[in-house]
Amino acid sequence: MSRMLRLPGLVDVHVHLRVPGGEHKEDFATGTAAALAGGFTQVLAMPNTSPPLATRPALDLALAAARRDARCDVGLYAGASPFHLDALRELADDAVGLKIYLNDTFGPLRVEDLPTLLGCFRLWPRHRLIALHAEGQSAAVAIGLAAAFGRPVHICHVSRREEIELIAAAKARGLPVTCEVTPHHLFLTETDAARLGPLGDMRPRLATQADQDALWDHIGHTVDCIATDHAPHTLAEKASAAPPPGVPGLETALPLMLTAVAQGRLRLERLVALMAVNPRRIFGLPDQPDTWIEVEVDRPYVIAADGLHTKCGWTPFAGVEVTARVQRVVLRGQVAYDADAGVLAPPGSGQVIRSAGHG
Ligand code: NCD
Ligand code: ZN
Repeated sequence: MSRMLRLPGLVDVHVHLRVPGGEHKEDFATGTAAALAGGFTQVLAMPNTSPPLATRPALDLALAAARRDARCDVGLYAGASPFHLDALRELADDAVGLKIYLNDTFGPLRVEDLPTLLGCFRLWPRHRLIALHAEGQSAAVAIGLAAAFGRPVHICHVSRREEIELIAAAKARGLPVTCEVTPHHLFLTETDAARLGPLGDMRPRLATQADQDALWDHIGHTVDCIATDHAPHTLAEKASAAPPPGVPGLETALPLMLTAVAQGRLRLERLVALMAVNPRRIFGLPDQPDTWIEVEVDRPYVIAADGLHTKCGWTPFAGVEVTARVQRVVLRGQVAYDADAGVLAPPGSGQVIRSAGHG
């Protein structure tokens, strides 16, 4: 027998909504429709757009589009760039955090020299979080910066055993480090990558079974947040000679995670901590009054691409059996999504989030 669960509105601190410049992949209206259909009422959008959110004019473009089109609440990251270090201070007031890319991935935003990195830590206000794409030994760089500057860092999409063990060691020393893990790294491995081809390619890449086991071993303590890294690209781009890395994830994260709860892999309270309480605290995000989601559990079905709200229209989880689905999302007292009626929240009903500063 299926039953209904009521949970808080979920928070995803890592999505790519592609505005400006990538509107053929996703935009604020479609990306936040996908968020609501997935049970998320607050999402934080990444700055690797075209142009990147590394200058005031680019951030203003994205802010205006978010105000016009968002159906749930959206915060924007500023992006660190060696060419625009001097812009950081004027971006901070309207950004929920600073994103620093230490490793190669989609888009040109990258910080590869120590002077720029130090500049970021000196210029970015202390009460605003710094999030890093920091794979492999770059994770040690991120932790070293947290220690040297005595300020919090958040490590994005941790995917390997050595990284999560290093973060556990840093936390045991009391260093102010938090981290997120994606559903694709929790539910897919390099074996799936071989099967999926470009549709299973993202940064960090899918890893080994041992890496995935380590993430699950640390899900109850070291891992702070589940974040989707929702990174839509079109099927045509994925079929091209140089497919861009990234996979969508907003609409599959909660069904997958609740299925893991049903299987006894984590407790429901832990899921709520990872997908709502912790992300809100870490990024200092505002409470959303009269906001909750209703989820049907214990009803098996197979994930399919049709019916998705993301503009890209595909998922690497097609064919995976799960046991939970979002039935209703209530945002500030209004039904924003209903499984039967669809997305009801109009563009512009979401608010642009200004972080109060990290907790
Ligand atoms: C992301 C994208 O497409 O913007 N791709 C990805 O593989 N994760 C960039 C990123 O988050 O690294
Ligand atoms: Zn990302």
